[in-house]
Amino acid sequence: MPPLINTISQDQPYLRIYGGRQLSGHVKISGAKNSALVLMTGALLAEDTCHFHNVPALADINRMGEILQALGVKLFPSKGGLSLDSRHLTSAHAPYELVSQLRASFFAIGPLLARLGTARVPLPGGCAIGARPVELHVRGLQAMGAEVHIEHGIVQAYARKLKGAKIYLDYPSVGATETLMMAATLADGETIIENAAQEPEVVDLANFCRSMGAKIRGAGTNTITIVGVQKLHGTDYEIIPDRIETGTFLTAAAITRSEITLAPVFPDHLTPIIAKLEEMGAQIVQETPKTLRFIPAETYTSTDIETLPYPGFPTDMQSLFMALMTIAEGNSIFSETVFENRFGHVPELNRMGADIRIKGNHAVIRGVPFLSGAPVMGTDLRATAALVVAGLAAQGETQVYGLTHLDRGYEAIEAKLQQLGAKLERVNGVPQATAVL
Ligand code: EPU
Repeated sequence: MPPLINTISQDQPYLRIYGGRQLSGHVKISGAKNSALVLMTGALLAEDTCHFHNVPALADINRMGEILQALGVKLFPSKGGLSLDSRHLTSAHAPYELVSQLRASFFAIGPLLARLGTARVPLPGGCAIGARPVELHVRGLQAMGAEVHIEHGIVQAYARKLKGAKIYLDYPSVGATETLMMAATLADGETIIENAAQEPEVVDLANFCRSMGAKIRGAGTNTITIVGVQKLHGTDYEIIPDRIETGTFLTAAAITRSEITLAPVFPDHLTPIIAKLEEMGAQIVQETPKTLRFIPAETYTSTDIETLPYPGFPTDMQSLFMALMTIAEGNSIFSETVFENRFGHVPELNRMGADIRIKGNHAVIRGVPFLSGAPVMGTDLRATAALVVAGLAAQGETQVYGLTHLDRGYEAIEAKLQQLGAKLERVNGVPQATAVL
């Protein structure tokens, strides 16, 4: 008999959540994981040191640090900050055992190729949410004159000097846009990326590269133009706040019918999240340019949502909104169009009393009056976060397993929730990382 995927062993760490309590107070939002990861690979472009502020203390950041160290980058952590010295790169080969643990490290292929003329990066493979191919990255690099071979699971790329090119992406992939934008900063001539991703993290990367001397315009629109320069210099750069962590705390406040404030946030990055929460009945007030106050509704109305590339509704918020929809009045439909396998939280939410049916890439959620606590297993980062959010509202005790996923992307989540008045504790586990590296 094949092994059960969701097997829970006795000594596995889990979060024990005593649900049904209201939250109150203020939550400090950390730096954006998906910006920080790609900016760290961007630091490979400079023959100098880059200082980052607002780096979240996360397992994924530590992993990226290990991969960069294997390439010869020197890392100097400081509180909330990180300096990367890429002056003396010693290798263009990212080790498989590290890349396989962190898909985003594949994005180093662009800067490595631009800087060293060669890169060997293992194919990262799929993950719990989908196959996650990288052919758009590869085709874009080939359009810029790189010779690319895939052998024994490793992408090997060579280019004495990358050349500017006009690249149309079949899909506005965040990672492909980032890889190609970084590669183009040191290429000969002009690169135009059409149908580019418009996510705030892409804009953050462009701003970071510009602060190193790159010439980039159009980031945040669907056409990005990069004019290559000879060299990039070091910089001092502050990472944007994490819009998905913000959305996670907004849904936690919504599902527990709690009033909280959140800062720092960039409200413009949250437009689809705020619009949908308001449509469901909540109020979100902008108290200062970077502070939001969440005011809950007594009951939430159902809604339909389709995940889309930015500025559409983010796929990373799908599981979290679904947790909220389980207790909304009426039927909601969620259509997941970005990843092909991102409903791992559904059977677990159903174990907590939710009524969700999956039909292809649609989930039909019939609102129930309440959720009840149960042992549940998170299958990926956002699925696990959704189960924590559901557990906060559920009657009785919820045990959320799968904390290795959660720790990849949420800095000090228990401490932040405890500070808001939630009652939860980590059992069997080592406490979460509190410092970068
Ligand atoms: N795709 C291809 N070919 C490619 C690249 C992508 O078909 O060459 C497809 C993917 O399979 C997927 C879709 O395009 O179906 C979107 O993928 P995209 O490349 O945009 O995603 P990503 O760059 O791999 C980043 C975030 C994800 C987030 C997505 C979408 C990082 C490190 N990761 O991934 O974050 O869900 O964009 O917004 O930036 C998370 O934080 O939990 C997370 C998964």
